[in-house]
Amino acid sequence: MIVLIDTHAHLDFPKFKNDLDKVLGRARQAGVEAIINAGADQRSSKNSVALSRKYPQVGASVGIHPHSAAEVGGSWMDELASLAGSDTVLAVGEMGLDYYRNLSPREDQEKVFREQLRLACRVDKPAIIHSRDAHEETLRILKEEELPSRVGVMHCFSGDRRLAGDFLDLGFYISLAGPLTYPKSHALRDLLHYIPEDRLLFETDAPYLSPQAYRGKRNEPAYVKLVYERAALTLGQDLEKLAEQVYINAVRLFSDQLVDRI
Ligand code: NI
Repeated sequence: MIVLIDTHAHLDFPKFKNDLDKVLGRARQAGVEAIINAGADQRSSKNSVALSRKYPQVGASVGIHPHSAAEVGGSWMDELASLAGSDTVLAVGEMGLDYYRNLSPREDQEKVFREQLRLACRVDKPAIIHSRDAHEETLRILKEEELPSRVGVMHCFSGDRRLAGDFLDLGFYISLAGPLTYPKSHALRDLLHYIPEDRLLFETDAPYLSPQAYRGKRNEPAYVKLVYERAALTLGQDLEKLAEQVYINAVRLFSDQLVDRI
């Protein structure tokens, strides 16, 4: 049996409001036995924890996406800290910088990013990092700040080989998503030959970034199988063997609790 893990999805988003049970059913049918649900703001983080309590196959992450950094105020960070300590919370994030859309001022993004890194250290859970058009700045902050013992994952990685090397040197895992299946993503597929097999993860980022076969439609955890399949094809590897390795990686990063959920 092939066990797949979707290390990054947003099942708490409104797009899944009406059919989440069916979505999770299709995930299980596809072999997706565990899903990390990434929080994106205060409400989403609360809902992420609620999902992890309701569905045994869902592990939560809690965090504030750079888009929402400007909204952070009052007791937000205290609330996030208390959520981060919950037993079904396996990681902190997604956190980071997004200079592509710049929905929050850059100073706010950087401040909230640093605060979440410190929180991840305090609760000693890995960090899920979002970086878009801001790789150099993200790298600088990660080098300046202390990192949690299991470090974390560069989610939906889109940088080049040199950047991948820099993040790998810091101890990060690299997670690849639907864009791996796009016809023009040659550079991303080449990266597969460079990332050490024990540092590789896959994800959907559902409802976003659907693989080629479902492009333009809502993405969902079942489709992570297409990312695994494309990677196996590129590497000339057996899908089963690749899935086994990625499973070991995910458990090493997100803790044995992930096993309890499978
Ligand atoms: Ni995301």
